[in-house]
Amino acid sequence: MVVLAALPAAGIDLLRPRFVVEARGERADTGWLEEHAPGSVALVSDPSIQVGQELMDAVGTSLKVVSNFGVGYDNIDLDAARARGVRATNTPGVLTNATAELAVALMLAAGRRIAEADAMVRGCRWTEPEADLLGRELAGATVGLVGLGRIARRVAELLRCFDVQLSFTSRSNGSPPPGAERREFEDLLAASDFVSLHVPLTAQTRHMIDARALATMKRGTILVNTSRGAVVDTTALIDALRTRHLGAAGLDVYEDEPHLPDELRELPNTVLLPHLGSGTVATRNAMARLCAENVIAILEGREPPTPVIS
Ligand code: 8YV
Repeated sequence: MVVLAALPAAGIDLLRPRFVVEARGERADTGWLEEHAPGSVALVSDPSIQVGQELMDAVGTSLKVVSNFGVGYDNIDLDAARARGVRATNTPGVLTNATAELAVALMLAAGRRIAEADAMVRGCRWTEPEADLLGRELAGATVGLVGLGRIARRVAELLRCFDVQLSFTSRSNGSPPPGAERREFEDLLAASDFVSLHVPLTAQTRHMIDARALATMKRGTILVNTSRGAVVDTTALIDALRTRHLGAAGLDVYEDEPHLPDELRELPNTVLLPHLGSGTVATRNAMARLCAENVIAILEGREPPTPVIS
């Protein structure tokens, strides 16, 4: 049996002819999984589901694979999986463009104050003095990409037509995107008008944007986060937005999704999205197929297309 958190039909349709599928249908829920997963050979999770020892123990020794519906796999306890001989897979590549486009959309939306402007028009406040919402353009701005994985590289490509000065931090020595300058983390923060986060969540990156990092940024910098909420210290972020040291933030991810503090919700200089990075029909279908193909390959004794644990 294959047990699914929440997977689009494009993935379920590949699994059903081959396996008994137990599917939750809508948003995944750990309690439901703990109840329905015992005895399963495969578990399809997503980043909102913590796949730790507890859930793996609830499934039992039948478990062979945890297939994550997402590229990020910080929700999976890889040591616990390894210890049980369980493979883990994710969905890299297919969501690169969708997520990169959303990061650029957040730069534009936060820079041009689109959420505030939309609220003004809907609230019939167009003619009020504060409706003259002046923002900032990307052209001429310095954009700093923290991390240089697939998504950051795609952001760099998309930004080429915006005439930005591009810089990036990276732990690896891969070739830099054309025209982009490698910088140390603190230099990048200090130099950028826009900072966009593209690192996975690890022990090293948790709260890497803390009060100190925010203070290193220039007054008025715009922060965009499409990676993981916990890369940013939310309390420090709220303080920096409140004092306007940080000009604005465009956020798709939060520390305790789907909950976010009221203080953040109430700040006008934020654009807040409900974790939509990969949220296009084509991308979610491609993710669903890849997720299912990973399960099928492992259960049929083949190497999966995109393993996290080999
Ligand atoms: C989610 C994501 O997988 O890929 C990731 O790491 O965070 C997203 O694409 C998606 O929202 C489904 O939960």
